[in-house]
Amino acid sequence: MAPVTECRVCGGTVEEFLDLGRQPLADAFLLPEDIDGEYFDRLAIGRCTTCTMVQLTEEVQRERVFHDDYPYHSSGSSVMAEHFTRTALGLLTTELTKPDAFFVEIGCNDGSLLRTLAESGIRHLGFEPAGGVARLARERGVRVRPDFFEESTAADVFATEGAADVIYSTDTISQIPYVASLLGGVDALLSPDGVFVFEDPYLWDVIEKTSFDQVCNERFFLFSVRSVRAMAERFGFDLVDVERLAAYGGGMRYTLARTGARTPTPAVARLLAEEGGQAELKALTDFAASVTRIRDNLIDLLRTLKADGKTIVGYGATAKSSAVTNFCGIGPDLVSFVCDTTPAKQGRLTPGVHLPVRPPTAFADPYPDYALLFAWNHAEEITAKEQEFRAAGGKWIMYVPEVRVL
Ligand code: SAH
Ligand code: TMP
Ligand code: ZN
Repeated sequence: MAPVTECRVCGGTVEEFLDLGRQPLADAFLLPEDIDGEYFDRLAIGRCTTCTMVQLTEEVQRERVFHDDYPYHSSGSSVMAEHFTRTALGLLTTELTKPDAFFVEIGCNDGSLLRTLAESGIRHLGFEPAGGVARLARERGVRVRPDFFEESTAADVFATEGAADVIYSTDTISQIPYVASLLGGVDALLSPDGVFVFEDPYLWDVIEKTSFDQVCNERFFLFSVRSVRAMAERFGFDLVDVERLAAYGGGMRYTLARTGARTPTPAVARLLAEEGGQAELKALTDFAASVTRIRDNLIDLLRTLKADGKTIVGYGATAKSSAVTNFCGIGPDLVSFVCDTTPAKQGRLTPGVHLPVRPPTAFADPYPDYALLFAWNHAEEITAKEQEFRAAGGKWIMYVPEVRVL
């Protein structure tokens, strides 16, 4: 796709600090007969020297990702489903107490957040361009507009339904490169004292955990408090609240309001000060060096084990594992297959390196010598469930924040 040389937020210069090479779309699990037409793009990230926003240097056409068969379903993870229910219940006692409040969600997916508000009778609308998940949301009683949220579609909603009191979005705003149209849309639709709230993975959690597998073609930005504040101010908003979240492998909830409409909470200044303590550019180049070290160590370990005749399988065909396997070049010669509980992934091949995905029953049939834990964010649940693997002499291989055998 087209290389991006200018910051999508402020037009400044983006300096690249990490190149993960040629990568497929992380969610694109393939049928064996479909491998010929596979899409690849260079995956590299940089930082704007002016506003500090961390972003990709290539942009994938949005229709290529968010199409009818978009495979990510929010309700697939019980931990996230619980997070969305709790978030919705919280909104009902805070921003949504006003009579006839109007709530708009950007990227409502299968309705995991909106269903709770719909059940409570809140006037609402979810924007969701991916047809399959949009249909699931409708089946759960959610009102959906099957469009991308942008300036024109947001203005259209304002004209027919009036201003939104809350515009909310989870794990979506960081996937939208067309910032001017997005925030133009928020400006067109939000009421004078309304809030625009979004939750996304947090740059400094990714850096701290060296979780470079959070980087993918689909996620254009890695937000920090500093860069989001700069983005807000450029488009007529203030950053008025921030809250760290355990979700998203370490996330942040940002609240924006129109300039001057609300007083920022002390959390904004506190987190800005914390970030100010990071020698930002050095931390990013150190991160890139750690990622390269992880790649070299992991590949060394897998090759040594194979040379010793050991068997290795992957555990959890996560979207995240795509960056790791493709960056490191981990193919079926090193990892025989990946087991995963998701029926839609079983019988398919992982993107790019084409590891076969098998059901969890394949794991114990017979147990491998080593299991590479791609679903490291679920480590506790998985290692507890697979105690027999350890008892049979099996060992786990982890790769974040560093490569180690457990
Ligand atoms: N909010 C859900 C889904 C996140 S995945 C969750 O947190 O689990 C991102 C979702 O945003 C996808 O369902 C995608 O189709 C949708 N999306 C992408 N661009 C969008 C846009 N411009 N407007 C509205 N939705 C969008
Ligand atoms: P996630 O990191 O996006 O939540 O993806 C986790 C993947 O791991 C998903 O494809 C399901 C899979 N998985 C298993 O196969 N077994 C498990 O016990 C868990 C928790 C997840
Ligand atoms: Zn910039």
